[in-house]
Amino acid sequence: MRFLARLLSAVLPLTLLIAGAADAREWKAIQESGTIKVATEGGFHPFNYYDGPKLTGFEVELAEAIAAKLGLKLEWSVVPFDAQIAALKQDRFDFAIASHGYTAERAKSVDFANPHYCTGGQIAAHKDGPLTVVALNGKVVGVQLATTYADAARKIKGLKSVKTYKGDPEAFSALRANKTDAWISDKFTVKATLDKNPDAGIVGGDLVFVERVSMILRKGNKELAEKLNQALAEVMKDGTYQALSQKYFKEDVSCRS
Ligand code: ARG
Repeated sequence: MRFLARLLSAVLPLTLLIAGAADAREWKAIQESGTIKVATEGGFHPFNYYDGPKLTGFEVELAEAIAAKLGLKLEWSVVPFDAQIAALKQDRFDFAIASHGYTAERAKSVDFANPHYCTGGQIAAHKDGPLTVVALNGKVVGVQLATTYADAARKIKGLKSVKTYKGDPEAFSALRANKTDAWISDKFTVKATLDKNPDAGIVGGDLVFVERVSMILRKGNKELAEKLNQALAEVMKDGTYQALSQKYFKEDVSCRS
């Protein structure tokens, strides 16, 4: 009996582990299937969002151009931003393109492709609200959960509190309704949101930090990383990237330095 118990306790976790581990799709498997599985969020204007029923945006179109260069069909999964890294680790998709800024913390669990744009986190507030880091003293800041904006906000000294929201549309609404004093998000997301809501009386303030944004993929999936980097380099060279950058931002958002 004791032997059996011991045997079971030794073998069970192992079988559970094997059963739980889906296959990390290597480049070869992806190529053979003819379809690459990609995750995004769909709530981050103008990078990935819904235009009516249609998933679109700079990153959505960029990923489609990258898949085309790789000779693959693209299958989208729409995954909440804060669940993407865990889902990637469970091999639910091959890579995610959802504006992940490089952080050493994330790099412990996922790999980053070469950056597809450079940007920064910016404060937004009502016209007479706190628009500088110093002015945030004693204030309530709203940010999207699990983002670099949340990390940055928590580092600002003297804040009253940091409120987290599922997405930026919610963080913006909270600011608009005076549930928070300020909102920190991507400078292009802030711009796109303010352009769409000119009567909200909200304006952009200080840039809090800068970051390089990349597709993320499963740690150690080297060949896929190389393929993504190659395809990204190609769309940057043949003008596709520039056309998308102009379409969505009217400027070049690539990391030129
Ligand atoms: N750039 C920020 C970060 O790295 C936010 C990304 C949010 N992305 C999104 N699809 N909502 O955390």
